Amino acid sequence: MDGNGRWAQARGLARVRGHEAGGERVEEIIRIAPQYGVRYLTLYAFSKENWQRPQHEVSFLMELLSGYLDQKLKKMMQNNVIFNAIGNLSDLPETIQKKIAYWIEEAKNNTGLTATFAFSYSSRFEIVEACRRIARRVRQGTLEPEAICEQTLSESLYTAGLPDPDLLIRTSGEMRISNFLLWQISYTELYVTEKCWPEFGEEEFAKALQDYQRRERRFGRSGETLPQVL
Ligand code: FPP
Repeated sequence: MDGNGRWAQARGLARVRGHEAGGERVEEIIRIAPQYGVRYLTLYAFSKENWQRPQHEVSFLMELLSGYLDQKLKKMMQNNVIFNAIGNLSDLPETIQKKIAYWIEEAKNNTGLTATFAFSYSSRFEIVEACRRIARRVRQGTLEPEAICEQTLSESLYTAGLPDPDLLIRTSGEMRISNFLLWQISYTELYVTEKCWPEFGEEEFAKALQDYQRRERRFGRSGETLPQVL
């Protein structure tokens, strides 16, 4: 969800106002995504690298997140959303960790959109942690090295149980992946828009999905067309 700072600065506002506006877009996209047939939505809210931002910005983002969990999650529950979080959650303030755990538990029997928030997330760190988990199983004697396959790694990531993404949307024109779901996006379609995240509303979301539908996905094979959902 890139471009919050630039969006604010272009309007003569403090960067944090961009994060506030970005938070509103999060709510909107989660609300409308199921209407477009989307069942899984993963939002990169805060990277492990983001801790290096100025202290006041980090504190603001934590406050925003805390308020979001207090105010918006109830609404997400009413919309049948399954709340999920990935990342090195133990880096977060304890109060926020507790709120996240509470809402994951509250939402576990919902059946609608799975909204996964990445907090203090780093894909490389996720892969390193997965390797550690696998190594421990080998040490315990419950896993043979020869039995380790792609599925073993997939099942050891934070995203275990979630399908790999079909589409990755990057806002604010950045042409890089920035340490996001590196393993999981091997065959994901990429969509880059010049719009900053606070400008990324329903119209832009629909445009991204329509663009995706025109793609021919091959997964390394000869060709296959996508089912039409729009
Ligand atoms: C990147 O924009 C955005 C972030 C580091 C924070 C993302 C947070 C939100 C969208 C709002 C909070 C989310 C929740 C769940 C309440 P940037 O600051 O790097 O912008 P720039 O690239 O223009 O500098």
